[in-house]
Amino acid sequence: MKKVILLFVPILLVAGCSTSRTPQDQLTVNDKKIDQVIAQMTLEEKVEMLHSKTNMSSAGVERLGIADMHYADGPFGIREEGVPNGFQSAGWTLDSATYFPTGSALAATWSKEMAYLYGTGMGKEARLRGKDVILGPAVNIQRLPVGGRTYEYLSEDPILSAALALEYTVGCQDEGTAVCIKHFAVNNQETNRGSVDAQLDERTLREIYLKPFERAIVEGGAMSVMPAYNKVNGDYCSENEHLLNEILRGEWGFKGFTVSDWGGTHSTMGAMLHGLNVQMTGSNYLGQPVIDSIATGALTEALVNEKVKQILRVRYAIEAVPEDVANTVMTSQPESQEIARKVAEKSIVLLKNEGVLPIAKEVKKIAVIGQNAVLKTQSGGMGAGVKALYEVTPLEGIRKRAGADVEVVYAPGYKNFPGRRWGPAPAEPNPLEAAAIDEPADPALCAEAVALAKDADLVIFFGGTNKSIETEGSDRQNIDLPAGQNEVVAALYEANPNLVTVLISGGPTDLRQLEPVSPAIVQGWWNGTEGGTALAEVLFGDIAPSGKLPFTFPMKLEDSPAYALGNFPDPNAGGDLFSLMYRPDVLKMSREERQKLIDSLPKPVSKYTEGSLVGYRWFDTKNVKPMYAFGHGLSYVDFEYGAVKASAKKDVVKVSFTLTNKGGMTADEVVQLYVARPEATVEWPAKELKAFDRVTLAAGETKTVALEIPVKDLRYWNVEKNAWDLEHGKLVLLVGAASDDIRQQAEVTI
Ligand code: BGC
Repeated sequence: MKKVILLFVPILLVAGCSTSRTPQDQLTVNDKKIDQVIAQMTLEEKVEMLHSKTNMSSAGVERLGIADMHYADGPFGIREEGVPNGFQSAGWTLDSATYFPTGSALAATWSKEMAYLYGTGMGKEARLRGKDVILGPAVNIQRLPVGGRTYEYLSEDPILSAALALEYTVGCQDEGTAVCIKHFAVNNQETNRGSVDAQLDERTLREIYLKPFERAIVEGGAMSVMPAYNKVNGDYCSENEHLLNEILRGEWGFKGFTVSDWGGTHSTMGAMLHGLNVQMTGSNYLGQPVIDSIATGALTEALVNEKVKQILRVRYAIEAVPEDVANTVMTSQPESQEIARKVAEKSIVLLKNEGVLPIAKEVKKIAVIGQNAVLKTQSGGMGAGVKALYEVTPLEGIRKRAGADVEVVYAPGYKNFPGRRWGPAPAEPNPLEAAAIDEPADPALCAEAVALAKDADLVIFFGGTNKSIETEGSDRQNIDLPAGQNEVVAALYEANPNLVTVLISGGPTDLRQLEPVSPAIVQGWWNGTEGGTALAEVLFGDIAPSGKLPFTFPMKLEDSPAYALGNFPDPNAGGDLFSLMYRPDVLKMSREERQKLIDSLPKPVSKYTEGSLVGYRWFDTKNVKPMYAFGHGLSYVDFEYGAVKASAKKDVVKVSFTLTNKGGMTADEVVQLYVARPEATVEWPAKELKAFDRVTLAAGETKTVALEIPVKDLRYWNVEKNAWDLEHGKLVLLVGAASDDIRQQAEVTI
């Protein structure tokens, strides 16, 4: 293999580059040279750069020393190497990566520091694999509790999502790997994801759905962006003038390039004119048809030059890893595994505790019940699966920590629901697999578990979902616990009420039946390579739990806004373009036939009439009591919040208060600052998160906590002026430990 040498020294990577340029403007430093290079390229060479070369690369120009661009999924671990033309395993041996906690787990840390470190871990491992761009972070708002990608995404709240998206981006790019932030934008459901039209008003779009992207792009300098599969207000995201040209490039000054989601390019003219740089995958739109369109005068070569320039800016900012350097060591490295552990430790949320946790010294026998205690969660879920170097399961973590003094026994308790099968059905049914998600509890498995529970000092029940139930490509039908888990936990409680429930899932579940029979409940997430280690540390009280929910656990699904308003599911659902693309009969069709079929299908729509009342904004404003509120999470200690001092200046609102750890161990508290506007003339939710911080306090320690809200973050999108606007007046600043646990408040006027 010939080595590709870069023409210019990449000078943009240096963290903290001392220049007054905006992060996006820094991408333009090589523009003059790039223009000279483009002048040497043929039209064919340029157009080759506008579409995939392999399933995970787009072309450079070898003749001119321009390396190909190598991409890798995904948000929580560098994906296993696939064959050039697909996702099937390439069978490599050094491509096992660190499996980082999934998106909602990262968000549950509410830690900017952790998000930065996470980004560095991803960025470093990408370099080891020779990748230039990671397809992440995935930062869409968790609008639906059933959302198939809730676990990939961060939070239902834009301020929390934005802060973490920013840090992840900067961390990753500081390591010399570009992010491709996804999925831009309003990609909040998997149902009909390839064709659904998300219809929402401009204010909601700006204040809720675009926020995480805006911060990562404007402040973090995200170098590439992945337009989503869906449409927004009528146009596909990959050819959406408003999103890509007006907002992303026009208002936010984005200087890098856009890459369609895989199979998410829909036309030549639309994509070329409305903001797409690279078609992934295929070349049927941004290959020969571009050359043909230039020949007929429908497109200009100048437009192609501009798109190539945007790609080359990133190419020159990111140093290509020489082929003989890449993949020479294992992708997963101890430094990243350590980051994964730290994130996992801070993500675990103690939802309820009636004195069962931490595990008492007197406990000498623990019955661990539930298949989710032994389930590995690294793979599955499609794009976000990771081939992890190793994964400590909850049972392994508990066994290791329990040591020789404590006996740990295990029973599966319930059948696992394996979800949709891609391959042929197995000849013999697996006795540990349920045929249907709502299959009742298996009496024999339940009885076996109850027998263990009776004979133990403590029962730890592992429930929740798995990555076949919560997955890219489909939404859940409901948020019920699968395969009779509720029955099993009720039987266990009857046998032994000294019981802890640990939920292993990425999204919320319906806990109405489980809650009364669970004296303690822990949200344990899909927590990465070291998930089991971190969980055991929390259960045994080596560290205090400190995660806080990044989304609301509704009491029941129908309480959540999109359901309450009848906005989801869409009665016209069906005919998903995306799934059609993979149907064997459709694959055989000519382009014209396929188009005819597509045109004949119903056009699914998702109406966002709840506006900005997403998640807790809805529950608070409408006075609907959730099961567990946004921001909720208990500790093994109590924290005392002192009176709030607040001041408002022209640019910033400042808040400070003392925080005391009243307990007997070191613990972290995530302090949250919400804003309410009792006298506003503009409509607002009852309150909105505006700032937060994670504070570590030794036993008995008091610290002064200072939080700031930039006044620009208090603006709203004024639809009449089509601009951000500030409403002056009284603000109530609410400081607390959760959205439903406000401890102190103060008022200021802006
Ligand atoms: C997903 C993306 C992913 C891409 C490549 C798509 O199906 O939506 O998130 O990056 O595949 O694997």
